[in-house]
Amino acid sequence: MSRLEDLEKGQPDRSKRKRSEQQPNGGKRPRIESSQAHHSAQTHHERRSGQNENGRQNGRQNQGQSNHLHRRRDALLGPRKALPIWPHAEDIRAALRQNNVLVLTGETGSGKSTQVPQFLLNEKWCSKCIAITQPRRVAAISLARRVAEEMGSLFGSQSPAAKVGYSVRFDNAAGPNTKVKFLTEGMLLQEMLKDSELSQYSAIVVDEVHERSVNVDLILGFIRNLVAGVAQGKRRKDPLKVVIMSATADVDALVRFFDGEGQLSEPGASDDGFERSWSGISDDSEANQPTLSKTRVSTCIVEGRQYPVRTVYLPEPTDDWVESALKVIFQIHLKEPLAEDKPGDVLCFLPGQDTIEALEKLVNDYAQHMDKDIPKLLALPLFAALPQHAQQRIFTKAPPRTRKIILATNIAETSVTVSGVRYVIDCGKSKIKQFRNRLGLESLLVKPISKSAAIQRRGRAGRETEGTCYRLYTEEGYKRLDERTMPEILRCDLSQAILTMMARGVQMQDVRNFPFLDPPPREALDKALHQLLLLGAISESGLTDVGSKIAKFPLSPTLGRVLVEAAQKDCLLDVIDIVSALCVENVFLDFKTEERKEEAEGARRELFRREGDHLTLLATVQRYAEERTDRKIWCERHFVSHRAMQNVMDIRKQLKQLCTSLGLLSASSTDSTTGSPRPEAILHCLIRGFISNTAQLMPDGSYRTLISRQIVAIHPSSVLAGKKTEAIVFSEFVFTTKAWGRGVSAVQLNWVDKIVEDIS
Ligand code: CDP
Repeated sequence: MSRLEDLEKGQPDRSKRKRSEQQPNGGKRPRIESSQAHHSAQTHHERRSGQNENGRQNGRQNQGQSNHLHRRRDALLGPRKALPIWPHAEDIRAALRQNNVLVLTGETGSGKSTQVPQFLLNEKWCSKCIAITQPRRVAAISLARRVAEEMGSLFGSQSPAAKVGYSVRFDNAAGPNTKVKFLTEGMLLQEMLKDSELSQYSAIVVDEVHERSVNVDLILGFIRNLVAGVAQGKRRKDPLKVVIMSATADVDALVRFFDGEGQLSEPGASDDGFERSWSGISDDSEANQPTLSKTRVSTCIVEGRQYPVRTVYLPEPTDDWVESALKVIFQIHLKEPLAEDKPGDVLCFLPGQDTIEALEKLVNDYAQHMDKDIPKLLALPLFAALPQHAQQRIFTKAPPRTRKIILATNIAETSVTVSGVRYVIDCGKSKIKQFRNRLGLESLLVKPISKSAAIQRRGRAGRETEGTCYRLYTEEGYKRLDERTMPEILRCDLSQAILTMMARGVQMQDVRNFPFLDPPPREALDKALHQLLLLGAISESGLTDVGSKIAKFPLSPTLGRVLVEAAQKDCLLDVIDIVSALCVENVFLDFKTEERKEEAEGARRELFRREGDHLTLLATVQRYAEERTDRKIWCERHFVSHRAMQNVMDIRKQLKQLCTSLGLLSASSTDSTTGSPRPEAILHCLIRGFISNTAQLMPDGSYRTLISRQIVAIHPSSVLAGKKTEAIVFSEFVFTTKAWGRGVSAVQLNWVDKIVEDIS
């Protein structure tokens, strides 16, 4: 029996039955006959009933679909068996039969995310669903699709019978029969709000741990406590198996972390080559005490398959990555032949959406003027704010004689595997969140990547054949990079993390003792607690009602607070529109030349509101939503990003549903239009949430924030740029040449004073 058949024990497989039917004796098995008998009885009945004709067609369609799924599944078996992880299947199963925790490392593309859940599905202990967390929704969805294909199943919401599902922010596509569920880290944390024991799962696979997002660090802490609790008999009764997967992580640190204090050894578990034992706590021999002797963490290393990659550096450093990348793309395209059966696509890493969109446009412009006999170019952007369907386009095969140019942020570093890539272009930068404790402000900065990120990026060129990596920096520049990327928890605003912890039962006094893989600085924890106090999400006695509502939104506490305030001030629908637009980067297209800027400004004038950017966003969202003819044309006319607006509409819909389910919005009000917005009420809500981002006009014409007394200027992209107003509230802090507030509204100083007074 092949391993696949082994995996699928107990799952009736029609294609296999069909094969056995064709064998001399196998074809007469009663089970098959009865299924055929049922089919012919139906056929007889259907002849008499025109109504059932549809049923018959549906039946045929279903059969056709199922045959198609099984053919695809069988075709994928070969490539699956060739994955580096395949020979480790039995070791992985054995490790988890013996121990509850397995730390698994293997290069990107070795098959961890797609195969591990399938290896475990038919294990005795696995009676429930397997959850696999992902840092990004694009990976969660594409993995679910791929694993469904490999299992010969539909996926997501295609059918209630689908065995593979996913759950990402604003989109849940999993049902009662889901056995394998890919979900973003944020969604698993959301689920833990309702069910802290994760009782619907038999196993949690935490993937991409090396990315060290705040969410992954929180999940690791919660799971560590949960596993320890299960072992001590304090938590759920059935075992919870945990697999920690990583492309590069420090295995020892993870093993030490899970080998933490207070876990029980499992009776009957024998030592084996995987096990790491720990002797921290010894049995104190009291009769009723559980035996605290050692914990069990298995480790498994999957060797990657990597072809040689040539590295090419720039002779001189550059800041114009778009220009340099463009040159390299055309150099590759014109010099390196594109063969039908060989990978030849380009994966280009850029810092963010703005640079990606600029390069996409340039590639398309230049490609239009290429000779007819040169193969075509297909530029495909990939960044977090891209609508789902657009993100998924990178996975589709390019038409014949076409080279794919994938323009991505660090999403493509380890999270997604796109086949066909042979050339990598790495600008050496990424946008990262950085929190300035002293200022209490968080901003997104373009920063050099680490050596380990650069190595990951280069590796993407050598997955299927030998490749080339063009680094848009010098060799000296590479040598100066930090060895590793600093975990997010050490450099971000922790207020959302702390709220997440407290909403899941961690007491305020225990926040500092939470098991963090890398404990954040105390100053950052204190700052975050202070911010939550300002928001009214916590009080001296712990989480408040407002706080528990905010924690249910997959948003920053600030935006959550704005929504909760809006429900009280009866302007929630309008505020949902604004918040949805704030969740998306760059609703308005940005232009470099003055001429184009002026043109765009003229076209958008009817959307501008004197109160500032937030009401302008509201007008934009509402006009777009009301547009009944062609939204794309409407966007072109107003220099608005259609892509961004599609995303806004998606988020808006989900936020309305969420607010309805939380009782903040009545079901009947979600479809109605709101009438004229009430600017004053809306601005009050924004001030309440963004209280740390309020600033007052000073006599010298500058603005100074009310809470931290920091100087801030109105960003040039604001409709209020160059205007003076007694006070402002801004939704984003950007630090470039100086401190800017982006997304700015004009407010009255006495409104801000009143809210500050109420808080203190
Ligand atoms: O998790 P890891 O990076 O180790 O590998 P994986 O995501 O399981 O990918 C293993 C292989 O599955 C890739 O090399 C691709 O050939 C394929 N795959 C795919 O075709 N589509 C996806 N969405 C994910 C993986």
